Amino acid sequence: MKILGISGSLNKNGNTAFAVRHALEILTGEGAKCTYLTLAGKDIRPCTGCWACQTDRRCPVADDMAEILDAMRGCDGMIIGSPVYFGMVSGTLKNMMDRSVPLRPSYEQEMELSGKVGAGIACGGFRNGGQETTLQNIHTFLLQQNMRVVSDGRGYSHAGGTIMGEAKDDTLGLRTVENLARNLYRMLKHIASA
Ligand SMILES: Cc1cc2nc3c(=O)[nH]c(=O)nc-3n(C[C@H](O)[C@H](O)[C@H](O)COP(=O)(O)O)c2cc1C
Repeated sequence: MKILGISGSLNKNGNTAFAVRHALEILTGEGAKCTYLTLAGKDIRPCTGCWACQTDRRCPVADDMAEILDAMRGCDGMIIGSPVYFGMVSGTLKNMMDRSVPLRPSYEQEMELSGKVGAGIACGGFRNGGQETTLQNIHTFLLQQNMRVVSDGRGYSHAGGTIMGEAKDDTLGLRTVENLARNLYRMLKHIASA
């Protein structure tokens, strides 16, 4: 079972990085093979809407996006974390989402992420600061890639991993991250045995 964790924060060692890594530690403990990717320090430019990807399956923008697309192709499950920016995902993470159109080609072709399982983590500075709306951004992305979405499941079962303030000190928030990781693992096991 291969899991990709993506931190959509430009802070290399910030709260989102901490929370995503925490989820991956849980998954590693369960036996999954985990890869961590951060968008910090990466050059991810906006989609220009040229649609060249629909004909040659390649994006003409030359930056760091190609390695992220390959990592997405290679995983069974994905956890995407974002800081809450004005109740939404970070701009860089939105760029990444928009630039994933090559994985979602024209109507006749298979969508490359179809059937994979995804989950979201949102890290905000405040209680009710927009963690749930940010998770909705992430879930909408996953669904539009024809993926299955899991929440934090057993324990509290709400929208996903939600962190408030300093991730390392947010015991309750980290519990939602741990539940999310375990729920993702359970879902992938279930799919594998079906
Ligand atoms: C541009 C900007 C907008 C933000 N908007 C919100 C917000 O709407 N709600 C909130 O709770 N926190 C907001 N914050 C705070 C961050 O979400 C919070 O500090 C988060 O933990 C940062 O994650 P990081 O350490 O991974 O970068 C904002 C921060 C920035 C820089």
